Amino acid sequence: MTIAITGSASGIGAATAAALSAAGHDIIGVDLRDAAVHADLAVPRGRAAAIEGVLERSGGVLDGAVLCAGIGPHTPDPLRLIDINYHGALAVLDGLLPALRRGESPAVVVVSSVASTQVVWAENPLSVGADRAALTTALEPAGDYAGHLAYAWSKNALTVASRQRAAEWGAAGVRLNIVAPGTVDTPLLRAGLDDPRYGDLIRGFTAPIARKAEPAEIASLIAYLLGPRAGYIHGSQFVIDGGVDAQVRPAAF
Ligand code: NAI
Repeated sequence: MTIAITGSASGIGAATAAALSAAGHDIIGVDLRDAAVHADLAVPRGRAAAIEGVLERSGGVLDGAVLCAGIGPHTPDPLRLIDINYHGALAVLDGLLPALRRGESPAVVVVSSVASTQVVWAENPLSVGADRAALTTALEPAGDYAGHLAYAWSKNALTVASRQRAAEWGAAGVRLNIVAPGTVDTPLLRAGLDDPRYGDLIRGFTAPIARKAEPAEIASLIAYLLGPRAGYIHGSQFVIDGGVDAQVRPAAF
C-alpha cells in the first residue's frame, strides 16, 4: 500500500510511519521538515504544495492517508492553530480524495483529540464558519487559555467535518475514521508540560490507566483502522485515552 502521512516527522505521525513502513508499506511523509514533501499546512499555498507533492510521488494513486499534523494548545497564536489543525487537515483530506478513489481498499485516519469532546458543535464558532475577527472576539474571554479553547474547537470541528463526509466517502469506496488520543508522550505534549499555563493542569490529570500513551500505541490503532480487518469500520471516532473519557463522561457515547 502507498500511504500519505502528514506530521510524519515527529510523535504520533513518526510512530505511524515507522509501524506502517515496517509492515511493508510505502510511506509519503508530509511535514515542515524531515519528510518527502515539505509543506506548511497553515497556509493555502502550503496545503496545495502538500497535495501536489503527494500526488506526484504516488502517481495519483493512494491506498491510505493519515492526517496527523497539528500543534498544541500552548501555541502563542490560537488562529494559526485553527489554520493547521482544522483548515489544513481538511484541505489535504479533500485534496487527496481523487487519488484515494483510485487506490486499493483505500482508508483514511484523521487524528483528532479527546479535546474534540470538550466543546459542543452547536456552540463552536467554526460550525458557522466564523472569520478571524469573530474567532478572536470569541476567544477573548478565555484569556491565557485561548489556546486550549481554540484547540478544542479545531479538533471538535475536525471530527464533525470528518464524520459529515462518511456518506460521500463511503459511496466513493474510501473508509474514513477518526482517532482521538488523550495524553501521548510526544514533543507536543512535552512542550505543554513545560508551559507555565498548562504544565500543572496536564500533570494534575491522571487517567484510569495512570500513564501517558506511547506514540506506538496510537500508531497501532491507526494501522488497524487502515487495514483489511477494519473493512466495515467507517465514520467512527475512536477515543484512545487510558479511560479518561469514560471517567469524565460515562453516559456520553
Ligand atoms: P508532534 O509535535 O510530535 O508532531 C506533530 C508534527 O506535525 C510535527 O512533525 C510538526 O512539524 C508537524 N506540523 C506542525 N505544524 C505543521 C504545519 N504547519 N505544516 C506541516 N506540518 C506541521 O505532535 P504529536 O503529539 O505527535 O501530535 C500529532 C497529532 O496528534 C496532532 O494533530 C495533535 O493535535 C494530536 N494529538 C496529540 C496528543 C498528545 O498528547 N501528544 C493528544 C491528542 C491529539
